[in-house]
Amino acid sequence: MLTGKKILLAVTGSIAAYKSAYLVRLLTSAGADVRVVLSPGALEFITPLTFSTLSGNPVHSDFTEDKNSGVWTRHVDMALWADLMIIAPASANTLSKMASGQSDNFLLAVYMSNRCHVMIAPAMDHDMFLHEATQQNLAKLIDFGHQIIRPGEGSLASGLHGIGRMAEPAEIVREVIGHFHPDLPLINKKAIVTAGPTYERIDPVRFVGNFSSGKMGFAIAEQLAARGADVTLVSGPSVLKTNHPGIRRIDVMTAAEMYQACIENFDASDIAVMAAAVADYTPTHVASEKIKKNDDQWSLTFEKTVDIAASLGKLKRKDQILVGFALETEHEEKHAFVKLTKKNFDFIVLNSLRDEGAGFGTDTNKISLIWPDNKRQNFGLKSKSKVAADIVAEIEQLTHP
Ligand code: CTP
Repeated sequence: MLTGKKILLAVTGSIAAYKSAYLVRLLTSAGADVRVVLSPGALEFITPLTFSTLSGNPVHSDFTEDKNSGVWTRHVDMALWADLMIIAPASANTLSKMASGQSDNFLLAVYMSNRCHVMIAPAMDHDMFLHEATQQNLAKLIDFGHQIIRPGEGSLASGLHGIGRMAEPAEIVREVIGHFHPDLPLINKKAIVTAGPTYERIDPVRFVGNFSSGKMGFAIAEQLAARGADVTLVSGPSVLKTNHPGIRRIDVMTAAEMYQACIENFDASDIAVMAAAVADYTPTHVASEKIKKNDDQWSLTFEKTVDIAASLGKLKRKDQILVGFALETEHEEKHAFVKLTKKNFDFIVLNSLRDEGAGFGTDTNKISLIWPDNKRQNFGLKSKSKVAADIVAEIEQLTHP
């Protein structure tokens, strides 16, 4: 999504500089050509070698790399090369200098010479961020037309808790993609997708699970992200990896953990797709020690897990879209329709284990979509990626009626 885009990343003196290494990896894997400049402060936290290795380009931090060579690095050329400049992390000191037009280092000279869009991801301690001086500097930089990617809240390097953590690299990449592709259909939508199985603990070494691979949910997350959505993927145990750099992944083990992650993220979501094969029952007691094979027979008692989809269905606002799945072995359409209405889905995706090539573990699926007004649509056997595209196309229709 960023093929051919020239991105200049300016890294300043903050412990969050380590996150920028990962940012470079995400940007380059999305196809961008990335060049990095470092402030003198950044050199205290991270080496140029890290960035030159990850970006595949030389890294500059001074007007001249060798004082005796008479060769200097031209800040103007570097600034004019870029389609986009990102300052991440942006320290309070650099923000202040940018706002007041100081250019006493190479990074600032590049910034002052640039003509492209500028994104700024501040990183500093809570009180420094909230200080009136910083807030005034940020207001001024917004006035200049720059885009601020707000820091998050959490524990800070100082040991304090508060605002000031640099935005996560995936979030910055989403902003970058949004900047270059403002017409993507789901660009301002937040989505949550559940995927994979859940494992319910029996004792420290055993669990009850199911055969879900997560392939369908992961494919849906990719398709939503490719259309510009800000995707949170809540995944049960799965060996799968996400490809799209903007997908935020929360790994969980049990139905209870998956429920917690969904509840925390649902309110802010426009779209929720429940593709996980959530365990319906969990052992009533989890043994603290490994259960020994003393008896010839062994039985466990189980209790119901919380129904995540049904819980979200109860909370769902009119402006939210909730999509569920039904994997059935008999009376497929009847069972799916009951789930659709009971869980308050906008539509349900039905797959039958009686269809060859459909269901768990396969790379293909054969689905039908069912709506509350009983409208139905059947699709042929396709790759899970194409099935995901069909499902997301329906979601897109609902977001733009
Ligand atoms: N689901 C969920 N939480 C659960 C159980 C199911 O979120 N504890 C979601 C699934 O992700 C799916 C939908 O509900 O989107 C239907 O799941 P399914 O297992 O087919 O149905 P159940 O309601 O569990 O009914 P049953 O197992 O009896 O068929």
